[in-house]
Amino acid sequence: MDKVKQSKVLVFDSGVGGLSVYKEIKQRLPHIDIVYFFDNEAYPYGELDPETLVTRVDSFITDIAQREQIDLVVIACNTASTIVLPNLRSKLSIPVVGVVPAIKPASAIANKAVGLIATPATVTRSYTHELIKHFSLNKKVELLGSTRLVDMAEEKLRGKPVDLYELSVILKPLQGIIDVAVLGCTHFPLIKDEISQVLGQQIVLVDSGEAIARRVAYLIGEGEGTIDKTKHQIIASAPPWEEDALNQHLSQLGFLPIQYYHHLDA
Ligand code: DGL
Repeated sequence: MDKVKQSKVLVFDSGVGGLSVYKEIKQRLPHIDIVYFFDNEAYPYGELDPETLVTRVDSFITDIAQREQIDLVVIACNTASTIVLPNLRSKLSIPVVGVVPAIKPASAIANKAVGLIATPATVTRSYTHELIKHFSLNKKVELLGSTRLVDMAEEKLRGKPVDLYELSVILKPLQGIIDVAVLGCTHFPLIKDEISQVLGQQIVLVDSGEAIARRVAYLIGEGEGTIDKTKHQIIASAPPWEEDALNQHLSQLGFLPIQYYHHLDA
């Protein structure tokens, strides 16, 4: 019996953050094959100089897209998407979906002000400031850039609980002045419950994950497909810290143990 060809999607980030996007895609399109790649060797991207970031993303994505016969790429990283998309799209013939802070939907529901929680790089990017200029609907947008928050999500996925006191100190500048917060880094939906506990349940948290999954479905089709693979490939650019603990969590999310990039050479 002929099978519908399974679409193969590459999800990319600097670390585990893109898994928040992976989960949304997987929920919407359970039949597709997904390869997850994370450039942990250069983590955190939020502190990387823009030229290095563009060069690294370019070389990994073009190589893996070709080797793995990828149908669509998701740059599941706001820090990267705000600068790498034009270059990648000019090089690849497949669709490249980027993740950028959800300023527009957040502003549409805000009464007081919007808080943009992102990496130190994302809050300074001109792309972000253009988004705010065009889509904030005259709502005030308060910026908060933090790498420690990104680290906390990395730690959580290795079994370390988030320290709510530490989190409250980081988020203090936003307390009382916003009613909607944009999780402008893909790591942050992974600690959404904790962020909500600290900011208060009345603060609406908005991220881009679901919209990205919708976009992917639109581009490759909801399809029928068949689940040929129950486990997906996950590739790292370097050995991750606390690899065993991380692999345990990844297995629950539907991944095989982490492979290293250089081992894939033909
Ligand atoms: N997950 C990434 C983002 O969405 C970046 C984290 C980092 O490496 O700084 O921005």
